[in-house]
Amino acid sequence: MDKVKVEICCGTACYLLGAANMMNIEDQLPAEWRGKVEVEAKTCLELCEKENLGGAPYVRINGSEIMAQATPEKLLTRIGELVEGVA
Ligand code: FES
Repeated sequence: MDKVKVEICCGTACYLLGAANMMNIEDQLPAEWRGKVEVEAKTCLELCEKENLGGAPYVRINGSEIMAQATPEKLLTRIGELVEGVA
């Protein structure tokens, strides 16, 4: 299985609106998910301009799925669905 790729936007808007809380998301992964998830911090994904600022913070999952108003809880839930293969 390919790793779940998680790109957390660390542009100014996303960072200030909550991305900072997700920077340590890898530390919050259950042990059995470790090694199955790749987390990267990215510069502005340009969604704050193309979509809207109210959607920040943004996270991109597996290169195409966009999570708006991301929180550590939402992100962990989605990662879990993908790792467990239920969605
Ligand atoms: S700062 Fe996150 S999309 Fe622009």
